[in-house]
Amino acid sequence: MTTPGVHPDSGTPYQSVTRAENPCVRAHDLALLEFAGPEPARARAFFETFGLRCNDGPDGSLLCSAEAGAPVAVIYRQAPVAAFIGPTFTVKTPQELDQLAQRAGVAAPYPQDLPGHPPGVILRDPNGVQVRVACFNDWRELPACGPAPLANRGPDRARTNSPLRPPRRPSRVLRLGHMVLGTPQWEATARFYIDTLGLIPSDVQALPDGRPAVAFMRCDRGDEPADHHTFVVARLPVLDFEHAAFEVPDLDEVGMGGEVLREQGFRRAWGVGRHILGSQIFDYWFGPDGRKFEHFADGDLFDAARPTRYHAMSTAGLAQWGPPMPQAFLRPRLGWRELGQLLRNLLTDSGFGFRELRLLARALRSKSLPD
Ligand SMILES: [Fe+2]
Repeated sequence: MTTPGVHPDSGTPYQSVTRAENPCVRAHDLALLEFAGPEPARARAFFETFGLRCNDGPDGSLLCSAEAGAPVAVIYRQAPVAAFIGPTFTVKTPQELDQLAQRAGVAAPYPQDLPGHPPGVILRDPNGVQVRVACFNDWRELPACGPAPLANRGPDRARTNSPLRPPRRPSRVLRLGHMVLGTPQWEATARFYIDTLGLIPSDVQALPDGRPAVAFMRCDRGDEPADHHTFVVARLPVLDFEHAAFEVPDLDEVGMGGEVLREQGFRRAWGVGRHILGSQIFDYWFGPDGRKFEHFADGDLFDAARPTRYHAMSTAGLAQWGPPMPQAFLRPRLGWRELGQLLRNLLTDSGFGFRELRLLARALRSKSLPD
């Protein structure tokens, strides 16, 4: 753990977000996401154009797959009201599931109601979000992407008499990469994922009063490198799934995938750009039920040794280059249910009141840039 330092705008010390010495288990990866909603046909049209393979599940659900990871990366169950059901994480061995069940005080592992029925346990995070942890026998490692396209770069002129024409088709989606959960109960939520699943805070963005606003957390794989972030907890006034991201091979797959989505009438949320924390090339799209899904490429990998770093929260700090973030990007999806939740949270001791709203608005106007 490094010394967190002070907020550059306010001079207030950053509050530490410590990693767990002895977590219940060390999750290996994010396996799949479950949604419910009234738009399965639109969900299918979006996910297929996004680059996932979609099939009908036996119970009428939509099952969407990437090339690697769990056999199914997204489940969309038909329901009258849109909802995020929750994430499923994976561990590598059944013994880890037993250990988790014992340490977390939940039922012993049993076959989950997921494609392939992998054994797993079901937890609830402090918000009540369902968190499954399962062990997939049929986990697929990343496929080879083939040789990198030849490129001309200054004096390095590798491509002659060979025009570059990336295929005009949906992106090759390699795998589910990460998701972001917005919550008013930031501290309890972050601690749950750190202490239960062993996630390591890679980078933390803080409010002007030093409290964390966003923690980008990675899986603890020891010496084996892991994505800079697999699960992100953001301090937001309503509980909601913020976005999920899927890895594609390179910039052309991001760009051409975006062209195909645009041609099919889908709406870009933000991109193309390159993030600062995580360094990914990114492109965000609005999918079913107004939720955001991201293509990314070329993200940072960290092993467990890299210490946590702290930064001032700012929208300027979210991208090294790219178009300015549209206002709509950070606006929570506000249906009647979310509006009620927002008012309740602001007016009660929810963890996100008017003070937090003011601090967040101030933070987002900050021009501070992370390293
Ligand atoms: Fe992302």
